[in-house]
Amino acid sequence: MMNLEMLSSSIRIGKKIASNRIVIQPMECNDGDPSGNPTELTVRRYRRLAEGGAGIIIVESLTLSYESRARKNQLKIAEENAEALEKLVKEMREVNPNPLILFQINHSGRLSNPAFSRMVSLYPAGDLNGHLLTEEEIEEIGERFVKASIIAKQVGADGIDFKHCHGYLCGEMLRPANRREDRFGGSFENRTRFFKETAEKIRRAVRRDPFLIGVRFSIYEGIPGGFGTSGPEEVMEDLSEPLRFAKMIEELGMDYVNVSAGIPAITPEFVRPTKNYPEGVYRHFGWAKAVKQSVEIPVIGSGYSYLRDGKNDLKGADPSKKSFLYWAEKNLRDGNVDLVGIGRQSLADPLFAKKVLSGDTDRITFCIACGGCSILLKSQREVGCTVYDPYYKEVLQKVRRG
Ligand SMILES: Cc1cc2nc3c(=O)[nH]c(=O)nc-3n(C[C@H](O)[C@H](O)[C@H](O)COP(=O)(O)O)c2cc1C
Ligand code: SF4
Repeated sequence: MMNLEMLSSSIRIGKKIASNRIVIQPMECNDGDPSGNPTELTVRRYRRLAEGGAGIIIVESLTLSYESRARKNQLKIAEENAEALEKLVKEMREVNPNPLILFQINHSGRLSNPAFSRMVSLYPAGDLNGHLLTEEEIEEIGERFVKASIIAKQVGADGIDFKHCHGYLCGEMLRPANRREDRFGGSFENRTRFFKETAEKIRRAVRRDPFLIGVRFSIYEGIPGGFGTSGPEEVMEDLSEPLRFAKMIEELGMDYVNVSAGIPAITPEFVRPTKNYPEGVYRHFGWAKAVKQSVEIPVIGSGYSYLRDGKNDLKGADPSKKSFLYWAEKNLRDGNVDLVGIGRQSLADPLFAKKVLSGDTDRITFCIACGGCSILLKSQREVGCTVYDPYYKEVLQKVRRG
């Protein structure tokens, strides 16, 4: 059996301890009820993840706003959802009190779906912009992030993951293409002002508590003027600004950085590597390492699911050195990252961490990166693994039949 000393070791994050280095990345599954509360399907998913025993479970993208949202049945975080969210956390802890439970909080911004909600954006780009947000409206959204953090704390979550990745509102704010002429656009200082002011307010609101605040951001979006380029028209990767941003996250007293990349709707291979671009996993290793070298707080890496048991299309590598276990342990040992995140693999096998850490690796059902779960999400259906879970296999068949 492979030595998994690092993967199975605990780590301090802020004032809390994660019992191992596996993180369940947020995976939105669009199975809330019409008020944005968890349903039986949601509870089933999270109870299984709790049983799975990862050190940290980041509960999927919770929308602050129902009038602007990306998913029809997205879970919501607002006062009226507090009771249901509290119940969800209790259900998870009942199964297993160990994992740290974080809530990812989000405003969908430009990616809000106009078919059932209001699309809003920060600057004009192309034909479809929806409503351009005013300074006052942006400030009001900041207040909602603060409120959502307070609710997360009240309902028993261990912290929040402040979403700045994947092209949603806070990600759009950061990019050089955001040339707003007010205090939220143009210079790096202006583009990070919303984060800075909101993070400070959140910190004050949950001050004196061991409540965690982390940030997930896309280090390179892969679009002209995207975050991780050096100007509004630039396309080449330049990590100067993202690394300054990571430093800012640390200086503002945040507890961890969760490094992702890309925008699923535009540059999906940067978000989640597949056989179309297997080497994307190496890009993720490098991105996390660059952040790790810039900050002292824990860094979470992404994009690991494609590695699976080594049966992948990565070329030129010794077959024994291509797997999730090999790379997770190596990257932790080499100091390239502090925790490894799994997204799709957590849908394919919610008990993944438990099986890995107990040496029961033969029973792992590995994600084959088929994209079935993403098709369900795009189709506004409830999401799960369409390969291993018969319920979602059938939902996919229905989607395909039209
Ligand atoms: C169906 C689906 C839902 C996702 N939902 C979220 C989400 O709510 N928040 C988020 O930050 N990332 C989300 N992601 C991205 C994943 O967290 C993860 O970064 C990505 O799948 C790459 O990691 P992996 O290779 O381990 O799957 C989602 C991805 C998929 C496929
Ligand atoms: S549906 Fe496919 S891509 Fe999604 S988790 Fe299952 S095997 Fe992986």
